[in-house]
Amino acid sequence: MTDTSPLTTDGLVQILFGSSAFQMLNAGRNLGLFALLSRRPGLTAQEIGRELGLAERPVQILLLGTTALGLTVRQGEGYLNAAVLNNTFEDGTWEIIEDLIEYEERIVRPAEVDFTESLRENTNVGLRRIDGTGTDLYHRLSANPELEQLFYRCMRSWSRLSNPVLIEQADLTGVRRVLDVGGGDGVNAIALAQANPGVEFTVLDLPGTVEIARRKIAEHGLAERISVRAADIFADDYPAGHDCVLFANQLVIWSPEENVRLLRKAHAALPDGGRVLVFNAMSDDSGDGPLYAALDNVYFATLPAASSTIYRWGQYEEWFAAAGFVKPERLPGGRWTPHGVISAVK
Ligand SMILES: C[S@@+](CC[C@H](N)C(=O)[O-])C[C@H]1O[C@@H](n2cnc3c(N)ncnc32)[C@H](O)[C@@H]1O
Repeated sequence: MTDTSPLTTDGLVQILFGSSAFQMLNAGRNLGLFALLSRRPGLTAQEIGRELGLAERPVQILLLGTTALGLTVRQGEGYLNAAVLNNTFEDGTWEIIEDLIEYEERIVRPAEVDFTESLRENTNVGLRRIDGTGTDLYHRLSANPELEQLFYRCMRSWSRLSNPVLIEQADLTGVRRVLDVGGGDGVNAIALAQANPGVEFTVLDLPGTVEIARRKIAEHGLAERISVRAADIFADDYPAGHDCVLFANQLVIWSPEENVRLLRKAHAALPDGGRVLVFNAMSDDSGDGPLYAALDNVYFATLPAASSTIYRWGQYEEWFAAAGFVKPERLPGGRWTPHGVISAVK
């Protein structure tokens, strides 16, 4: 076998100090460096220190880090944000990126120190970092109201970042009512309802979460078209009267056997011709990418539930067949996150 790896020594340095690289992004966000440079590009190190209330040494440390990583650029004595950051200030997605950074720092990082142990034990050992007795993250969050609020704010941002793919790819032509299984705070039902004016939705989730969803739906003035129902998605029957079932960021949590159980419940609840839609990050069938899926899998392996992972496209096709669905269709998103939709018909 020949070595075809593209890894260079610089690449190895980035991996070795990967969590330090994240801390440069985190500190630049927390201290307001990127927000400052988006408003006032070209400030010198001394001016940045004055504006951020930082002494000379920490400013040098921060700017060395952000500039070596390419998050900022030095031109003469002045500093600018990288274009990729400035674009997020211009298009309004910086507030989403801020939530993602906070999610990594406060929810993912404390648990990911248990990654090796999680692989060894083949379970989500990192869950021990969250108080409570539930066997998955979501049941533990209901016992931690402050963390629960943070989780759903950040989860909402992850979904807002990726759900344009769902809106573009989920063809709801002819659909009257969608059941959003484990619909969280309703972020996807709200976006789909706005894009598909004739369609109604039911968001199914745990009791505490549907209260968060109820508030969000009311804030968007959609209470007449989106209802909520507290239920356990494994133990309870799915309500009748829906011709489409959506699993958004849901089948990445459970084992293949659990996913087939959920898909069979969807199959039982749908009329003939009804549709199932699965929306989440996907990994390549070749098992070697994309990088986003590979790295996000540290979170999935350590925290949400015992068997969580970013599955390959082909696995969904196998589960659809096992649950009785036909005509699977892959609808990749084609954006920087590997989110896609895969659909099938009863
Ligand atoms: C990763 S979040 C996804 C939320 C939403 N679909 C989205 O894309 O933003 C998973 C959701 O499944 C819900 N969930 C997990 N286990 C559940 C269960 N046994 N019964 C009902 N809902 C559950 C959680 O409360 C959470 O809102």
